[in-house]
Amino acid sequence: MTQDIFGQETSLRCAQTQKSWDSTQVGVLAHAAVTADHLGAVLSAAPDFALAQAIKGISVLMLGRSELLPMAQDALRAAKLGYEAALPRERLYVDALEAWLGGRPSVSIALMEQVLTSSPEDSLAMKLSHGIRFILGDPKGMRASIERVMPAYAPDHPGRGYLLGCHSFALEETGAYEKAEITGRQALWMAPDDAWGLHAVAHVHEMTGNAATGLDWLTGREEAWAHCNNFRYHVWWHKALMHLDLGQSDLALMLYDTEVRKDKTDDYRDISNATSLLMRMELEGVPVGNRWEELSELCANRTEDGSLIFADLHYLLALAGHNREAETRRMVARIHADAKMRKTEAQERMASPGCAAANGLEAFGEGNYAQAFGDLLRARGSMQLAGGSHAQRDVFERMTIDAGLRSGDFDAVEAILDDRRAKRAGSEDNYALARRQLIASGRDGLDAQSMPAE
Ligand SMILES: [Fe+2]
Repeated sequence: MTQDIFGQETSLRCAQTQKSWDSTQVGVLAHAAVTADHLGAVLSAAPDFALAQAIKGISVLMLGRSELLPMAQDALRAAKLGYEAALPRERLYVDALEAWLGGRPSVSIALMEQVLTSSPEDSLAMKLSHGIRFILGDPKGMRASIERVMPAYAPDHPGRGYLLGCHSFALEETGAYEKAEITGRQALWMAPDDAWGLHAVAHVHEMTGNAATGLDWLTGREEAWAHCNNFRYHVWWHKALMHLDLGQSDLALMLYDTEVRKDKTDDYRDISNATSLLMRMELEGVPVGNRWEELSELCANRTEDGSLIFADLHYLLALAGHNREAETRRMVARIHADAKMRKTEAQERMASPGCAAANGLEAFGEGNYAQAFGDLLRARGSMQLAGGSHAQRDVFERMTIDAGLRSGDFDAVEAILDDRRAKRAGSEDNYALARRQLIASGRDGLDAQSMPAE
C-alpha cells in the first residue's frame, strides 16, 4: 500500500509507479498534455491497477466519440481484472466507468460523490465530478460539489489551487461573477499551471461584457495554458472572442488560423471552438473565406456519432448552409431517431434540446429564418442540458436572436436580449448592443412606413 499526493491510500506497491500515478492525477487537474504519458507509465508498470484503468476508460469517454467505445470497454475489462485487489475507493471509479458505459453518466457523478463523502480530499474525484457535470450541463451541481469538499482542504493541500479553479468556474457559471474572479485569481496564484482557473476568469469577462479587461487578463499569462492538451485551443478561442467583440476581426481571424485551428483535428472540442467562432464572425458580417470547407469535410464524417448533442450541434454548424444538404439531413434524422430511443442520458438530450435545436440550425442554414427562430426558441429553455458553458452555448443564443431579427420578430428578440442581459448581471456585450440598435432602427423603419403620405 502507498499513499498518493492527496493523502489517499492506493493499492499500488511500487514507489516509482506511485510517482507516475501522482503525476497523472496532477496532469488531469492541470489539463496537461503529458498526462497520457504518465498514465501510460502507470498502466505498463501496473496493468492490474484498476483505478488507472478506470481513468483511462473515463478519459476515453470524455472524448465523445462512438468509435472509441470499444477502447473504453477494454479498459473496463482490464479494470475488472484488478477489481478484487482494489480498495473500496478505487472500485467506485471502476463502477463509475461502468455506469457511463451503460449510458448513465449521472450515476458516475453519484459514484464520484460517494468517493468524496468518505475521501473529500481526493482531488481526482472532485475533478471528475466537476467534469462530468460540465458535460451534462449541471452548474449548480458543480458548485455544490466543490463547496461540499472545500472545508476538507488544508491550505497546503496539493490540489487546493485546482479546487479553487473549479470553484471559480462553478461560481461563474452560476452567475457569481465577482466571487468567481477573486477565486480564479487565487487559484492561479496557488497553482500557476491551473489553466481551468485562468480560463474561469476569462469567462467572467466574457459574461460581463468586459472584452478589453479579458484581453488584459489573458495577455502575458500564456505560460498558464501552454502546457495544456487541446484545452489550450479553447483558451485561445476565448481570446479570439474578445477581439471579435471589440471589432478586431483581423486579430480574431489571425488567432483562428494560428492557434484555435492550428491543428485541424476532428476532436469535438476543437471543432466546437472553430465552428462557433466562424459562425459568430459571420453573424457580425466578417468574411471568413474558405475556412468552413475543411470543417464541413470533417463534420460530414460525424453524422452517425451521437455521443453528445453538444458535439452534434457544433458539427451541424459546419454542415447546414455549407453545401452539405445530404449530411445535414442525415445528422438531423439521426438526432430524431436517437431521441425516440431514449435509452441513455445522451439520447434524452437528443430529444431535448436536440431535436428542436437541430431543426433550427438546419432551417438557419437554409435561410429560413422564421422557422429557425421558432425551432431555436423552442430549444432555448432546455439548452443548458446540451452541456458546456454559457459562453459556448451563446453561439446558439446569437443565432436565435439573429434569426428573430431577420424574420422581423423584434418584440420576441428584445425579450431574449433582456433575459440574456439579466443572466449577465445586467451587463451587455457589443453583440447585444448592436442588436438593440438594429431593433430600434427596424422599428423606426416600420413607423416611417406606417406614416400617412403627405
Ligand atoms: Fe470556456
